Amino acid sequence: MAFEIVTVPCLSDNYAFLVRSDRTDETALVDVPEAGPVLAALDARGWRLTEVWLTHHHADHVQGLDAVRERWPEIAVTGAAADARRLPPLDRAVGDGDRFDFAGAAVQVLDVSGHTVGHVAYHLPAAHAVFTADSLMALGCGRLFEGTPPMMWESLQKIAGLPADTIVYSGHEYTAANARFALTIEPDNAALVARARAVEAARAAGRPTVPSSLAEELATNPFLRAGLPEVKTAISMAEAADAEVFAEIRARKDAF
Ligand SMILES: [Fe+2]
Repeated sequence: MAFEIVTVPCLSDNYAFLVRSDRTDETALVDVPEAGPVLAALDARGWRLTEVWLTHHHADHVQGLDAVRERWPEIAVTGAAADARRLPPLDRAVGDGDRFDFAGAAVQVLDVSGHTVGHVAYHLPAAHAVFTADSLMALGCGRLFEGTPPMMWESLQKIAGLPADTIVYSGHEYTAANARFALTIEPDNAALVARARAVEAARAAGRPTVPSSLAEELATNPFLRAGLPEVKTAISMAEAADAEVFAEIRARKDAF
């Protein structure tokens, strides 16, 4: 079973993703920042959109849905049951630990609340892919608009526990700014220094820095690394609990 995943840049810095099964000719769309680029990407490949997986209620992740549905009226929409009141009408309401079938493969739902309460991520093990939107991001994590630091820390732990070869498809091109911040936390992390250089080069060439691998996030993302002794020591919090260190790093990023 083979899946092809296409990154679709939308708006100024959002990403949507198309997940296509070549076995069943079904295509899922992860988030709908706007319709135009998504429809164009489908048309360019002759793909048939069959479903939409929504990660959270923010407008820049759902607002293109009605326009997409005008072209593909039969699409089934999946989203968090816990946040159904703020999401577009759902055909499939899911929660943490749920599994559903896509083209004969399992999709596993993770509640990754923090940025919003009710944010979900979709893990497709058959494609080594997790769609994290504004929870875990490339070299960063989403701002905590609704949840608490311990909530987001717990959410990030769920993603960190996925296989290290998992590819992380996150929702925004914020990586260059995230890299500059990450270097203030771990200036001596050689993997981070190298990645920051690669990110600068990619952006200078107009290339996206999303997706990234979970392995590189574990090696370089300060928000995932808040539980490590070297990170705690680097910010003079050697004795603090993991979630407290995460909260401090998140607070510093908010003020960066
Ligand atoms: Fe968001």
